[in-house]
Amino acid sequence: MVLVTGGAGYIGSHTTVELINAGYEVVIVDNFSNSDASSLEGIYGITGVKPTFIEANCCDREAMRRVFEAYDFASVIHFAAFKAVGESVEQPLKYYQNNMLSLLNILELMGEYGRQNIVFSSSATVYGDAEELPVTERTPRKPATSPYGNTKQMAEDILRDTVAANSSLRGIALRYFNPIGAHPTALIGELPRGVPNNLVPYITQTAAGVRECLSIFGDDYDTPDGSCLRDFIDIVDLARAHVVAIGRMVEDKNKERYEIFNVGTGRPVSVFELVNGFERSNNLKLNYRVAPRRAGDVMAVWADTTLANEELGWKAERELEDTLRSAWAWERHVRNI
Ligand code: NAD
Ligand code: WQD
Repeated sequence: MVLVTGGAGYIGSHTTVELINAGYEVVIVDNFSNSDASSLEGIYGITGVKPTFIEANCCDREAMRRVFEAYDFASVIHFAAFKAVGESVEQPLKYYQNNMLSLLNILELMGEYGRQNIVFSSSATVYGDAEELPVTERTPRKPATSPYGNTKQMAEDILRDTVAANSSLRGIALRYFNPIGAHPTALIGELPRGVPNNLVPYITQTAAGVRECLSIFGDDYDTPDGSCLRDFIDIVDLARAHVVAIGRMVEDKNKERYEIFNVGTGRPVSVFELVNGFERSNNLKLNYRVAPRRAGDVMAVWADTTLANEELGWKAERELEDTLRSAWAWERHVRNI
């Protein structure tokens, strides 16, 4: 049995589907602060299984204690967090409160109730403007450039220290690169609220006519086509990495009790390439223009995935074109078009 915090969200819902497909029983805790029950319906539609759902805030220690009392899970995947980089600059305490308190509660209760394994959602944001590319797990982290990024760096360190101090605990931090796309059934996907910050939701909303025009933030970078380079990882591939990480700890195959893995494709793709790929794979034209660089963007970041490939036996498999088709299929599903 696996506790999935934030399981109604984008990555959590896809991971829940893959966990169920792999035979795990799942308990979801979510407070719907950035999601709603439609993802739970989607999980049911895909798998035919209704995971146990508890509406609770992970920062509420007593509510979480009741979850630990009631369910005998050995493993936790902790997704629950706020993730908007820009908002974290405006409202840092909101991010420090939610992202740190939820993790502290989970770790304390895991110790108290003797639960063994945790997968934590980290992010490529911890590398910042990296000195070497592609980044490996040993590439030094740069000082965080946002409170959000800082919560991920601090959370990694808290997890490392907690595992070091508790010999029955194991942890894996997965550093996600840029997760995109949706489940091939189009029954679950990303549901951004308001104006999307991320590239692919902005693209799909522009294609749907919800946004007038996509701005490409900068074409004057020192890259082959002048736009930024990123490592776009398919959401189902990303979800599968969690199942493998849990299996590694459950089967006692981890080499260290605390491990870190990059979860990306290992392939840099430029913003122009992604936009053109979206047009080509969906056979449509997108309204876009070049705009000034966005503050805080790094020019390029992509993963060295050797460690995940060799140690986890996991690698990204889905073709980018299929991923971009799934993103558009999901947008059409949401908009009924
Ligand atoms: P999401 O917002 O779709 O999912 C997060 C879920 O957690 C939401 O359903 C939200 O309602 C819930 N939640 C938030 N705070 C909670 C709390 N205190 N108690 C209970 N539930 C709470 O985001 P996502 O894209 O699925 O991200 C999941 C995790 O992955 C986050 O930790 C995020 O920081 C991390 N991450 C995301 C990306 C990305 O680009 N999507 C990249 C790297 C890391
Ligand atoms: C990708 C590229 C933009 C929107 C963010 C977080 C990171 C992680 C993943 C959580 C950039 C360009 C974007 C648009 C554009 N999340 N772009 N027009 O910034 O790489 O990473 O999400 O951990 O922490 O920072 O992702 O999708 O915002 O941008 O040109 O309307 O697309 O400039 O080069 P990013 P993104």
